[in-house]
Amino acid sequence: MRKIVIAGNWKMYKTQAEALEFLQAFLPQLNQTPEEREIVLCAPFTALTVLSKNLHGSRARVGAQNIHWEDFGAYTGAISGPMLAELGVRHVIVGHSERRRYAWETDDPIMNLRVKAAQRHGLTPILCVGETKAQRDAGKIESHILGQLKTDLAEVDQENLIIAYEPIWAIGTGETCPADEANRVIGLIRSLLTNANVSIQYGGSVNPTNIDEIMAQPEIDGVLVGGASLKAESFAQIVNYQS
Ligand code: 13P
Repeated sequence: MRKIVIAGNWKMYKTQAEALEFLQAFLPQLNQTPEEREIVLCAPFTALTVLSKNLHGSRARVGAQNIHWEDFGAYTGAISGPMLAELGVRHVIVGHSERRRYAWETDDPIMNLRVKAAQRHGLTPILCVGETKAQRDAGKIESHILGQLKTDLAEVDQENLIIAYEPIWAIGTGETCPADEANRVIGLIRSLLTNANVSIQYGGSVNPTNIDEIMAQPEIDGVLVGGASLKAESFAQIVNYQS
């Protein structure tokens, strides 16, 4: 069965104190959240401990924003699967377009290795794929995404996997991909997978105003939310969308 997964990606926001303040306002608002919705907060590495301690016994789970492909080694500045698993992290974003753009992390072969490293340590990778505006305008959405999936999912077990369709032009721009178009591309992604039960999220300028329409789409199993996940009030509205 496909799970509904609503995840916040805090990016490089929130100190530990700010994370705690968020939780105090956010967690009480999960009381009415339907049972079947899985809620994840993907925090910076420095806030993971505070989340782990304070989410224990709550509806929300802890997620990280990147993972190294090796378990240990001389990789200055990197964080590995065992380090995340020890903190109670359950999900990890892999291949976010901001990592691809600003940290020069490319598809071949390290996204594939990161996905496998997450699974090896019992974490669910949230693999991000999506096209630029130029690729969309050139009619290359399908070929681009197909290429990403082929490389990133080579020999990957699709049992413990989430995919996020994040059209790059819709991230942080306020320009949401129309819900029916996101639904179409996500349906295409699903047709390329071997496991029909993989949850596929949409990400890109999701907010409390457009969440109902997005989640009403039959192919969309959840959302990956940036800016609107930073405020307890707006993320609670998203998590408690009307079905
Ligand atoms: P915004 O919701 O701020 O557009 O960010 C989306 C995103 O990058 C989630 O990973």
